[in-house]
Formats: sequence, structure tokens, C-alpha cells
Amino acid sequence: MATALSWIEVDTTAISDNLRQFAQRLAGGVRLLAVVKGNGYGHGMLPVARAALEAGAHWLGVFHLGEVEQLRAAGITVPILILGYVPASDMELALRLEARITTSSLETISTAGRAAARLQVPARLHLKVECGTHRLGVTEEQLPQVLQLLRDHPGVQLEGVHTHFANIEDTTEHDYARGQLQRFRGYLELLHRAGLEVALPHTACTAAAILFPDTHFAMVRVGIGLYGMWPSKETQLSALQAGRSQPNLRPALCWKTRVVQVKDIPAGAYVGYGCSHRTTRPTRLAVLPVGYANGYDRLLSNRGHVLVAGTRAPILGRVCMNLTMVDVTDIPGVSLEQEVVLLGRQGEEVISAEQMAGWAQTINYEVVTRADPHAPRLVVNRRNTGEPA
Ligand SMILES: Cc1ncc(COP(=O)(O)O)c(C=O)c1O
Repeated sequence: MATALSWIEVDTTAISDNLRQFAQRLAGGVRLLAVVKGNGYGHGMLPVARAALEAGAHWLGVFHLGEVEQLRAAGITVPILILGYVPASDMELALRLEARITTSSLETISTAGRAAARLQVPARLHLKVECGTHRLGVTEEQLPQVLQLLRDHPGVQLEGVHTHFANIEDTTEHDYARGQLQRFRGYLELLHRAGLEVALPHTACTAAAILFPDTHFAMVRVGIGLYGMWPSKETQLSALQAGRSQPNLRPALCWKTRVVQVKDIPAGAYVGYGCSHRTTRPTRLAVLPVGYANGYDRLLSNRGHVLVAGTRAPILGRVCMNLTMVDVTDIPGVSLEQEVVLLGRQGEEVISAEQMAGWAQTINYEVVTRADPHAPRLVVNRRNTGEPA
């Protein structure tokens, strides 16, 4: 098999350690759902799922049924909640795989009810309710119809009710989130009055799990924190201001590649497409086999750094489809096939997802999730190797 030119190392001990810190924040009986959609936020869904479950996660959260198929094929039997949409044509398969299904529409309730009757198995639904994010979710006005459909389809069990906050991680001002929480409680009250006590109400993502225990209800859905990142500076600041104990999060992902050419060029030479960088001194370039086809963002052109021999090497010129040039003039002895870190730690230096996000005008979530989807994910255990995390 050909050698990969770039790869991603995932420290699953960091995933377990991060998860345990969230578990410790929860009151007894509150379930912890590890969000592993987006290929485990780019870390590799299966290794992340296994590490999270070993560390005590009770549930997994994915976006679509294909991910449930992969997890079940890997022998994972815990409840898995599909946060996205299940097409009518897939409903029977979803029930056979015992997926928990988010329902944001009346149609899904009927489809699930009919499939449950045909298969003679329960359809366990989690009703997503609209509390002001205006994404997925049924509205208060639709609730009477929801209740009628539940009566019409006895095979449907309303196992959960959930919502997702719009801006809880974007601000230190949480009035909007508080309003959303209030609306969520309103739905629970309406369901209660209709005689429905739903076992698993859930609202909390990472930021809510850290900042507001009253969002925890019966289950929290932790994503970014599990991977060792804060949702935002605002969340960190809010935790500090509120005097909340802060989880000590450890990033789990390191994206690496190798030098494929070392080249000396004179002062005044242009580097790469568009001649967007001109050297001001005799320069030693290292050429790296990654580019925007590998999820290495073109906005890093003339802006980002990589780590070579534990030292920052600036990107010169534009990131190409598959190649990127970096300045290694000040780093002695750089050689062909030398290991380079694109994201993560090398020696004492770190390129964090937050820093890369700043260069690429995005957020840490996107940086890790888009890290080369085709690169192999290698599980490493830094706790045992003694390497710095
Ligand atoms: C519905 C839902 N719940 C939970 C999460 C996890 O959020 P976070 O990564 O901020 O913990 C997400 C992430 O996108 C989500 O869409």
C-alpha cells in the first residue's frame, strides 16, 4: 500500500481525559452523549467513539444513518441519536439498527410510526423543538398535531425532547440563550399537561454544559470539548467571570506531513502561483505535499505557519491544490522527508486550531473537521509515550 503523504494522529487518551472532565460536572444520573458526527470532528469517528465509550459516555450523536451503520458494524451497541434527517426510505433500516431518531417534522412521526408497525419494533424518537435557532425543530403551534400523531402511532415512543442553542458560544451575554431555555421549558410543560413525561429532555452542547448546569436536564451532548477545544474565547471568559471551574482540555489531533523538496532560491525570486511572494534574501524553501485539496485552506497563503524541527516556518506564496511552500532558511539541516506539523504540537511549539482558524477566518470546529478527510487517522497514546500533549 502506498505511503500516505500526510496523516492525522489522534491521541485517544486526550479524548478520554476530556470526556471524564465533563462527566464529573454532571449530577448523578445525567447521561453524557458524545457527539461524533463530522467523522468525529475530523478525528476519525470510530477511534473517538471507542475512547469516549471507554471513558464513560452513555450515548453517541451522529448526523445521519450511514454513521449509525458504521458504528453498529464496528460492534458498538450503545444508543445512537441521529441529529439530522432520516429519509422515509431509510426508516426501517434506522429502526432495525435501533437508532434514536430526531424528528423535526410531523411527517417523520408518521413515517416512523408506520415502519414501527410493519417491523413490530418501537420507534424511539427525540422531538426537536424550535426555541429560536430557526434551524430544525417543530413549533409550539405544531405541538397539538404532534400529540395526535403520537396517539395515532402507538409504536412510536417519545424518548427525548431536545433543542440547540443559537449563540451560547458566541457571546458573554446570555439573555438569548436564557430565553431559549425558557421556551424549552414551555414545551416540556405543554407535554406534561398532555400527560407525556419524556424520559430524556436535552439541550446542552459544550458551552452550555460548562456554563449552565440548569441546561443539563437528563443528558448533555458534548462535541468540541471532547476533542480538547473550547467552543470560543467568549465561553472561556464567561466561565472565568462566573467563577466556574474550568475543564483542563487537551487537544487530541495532530496533522502531519513530510518535506518533499528542499530548494535554495535567490533574493528577488517569486514563489508559487500568482507570484504573490517575492523573496528579500537568499531563501531555503521546503515544499510540502498538502494543499486546499487536502483541506489545507488557501487563506493560509502568505499568512500561516507550519512547524519544522520544533520551529515555526512561514508559508510563502499561495497554498496550491496539493502543494505548499514554507521558508526554512533559519532552520538548519532541513532534509527530504523530514516530518512537519501542520496543526498541533512539535517540541515546544504549537499551532492550535484556534490560531489556524484565525488565519483562515473561521472557527476551530471547521479547522479540525475539514483536516484532510482522506488522510489516515492514526491512534496514538501520548500518555504512555511520555511525549508532551
Ligand atoms: C444538535 C447538536 N448538539 C450538540 C452539538 C455539539 O456542540 P459542541 O461541539 O459545541 O459541543 C452539536 C454540534 O454541532 C449539534 O449540532
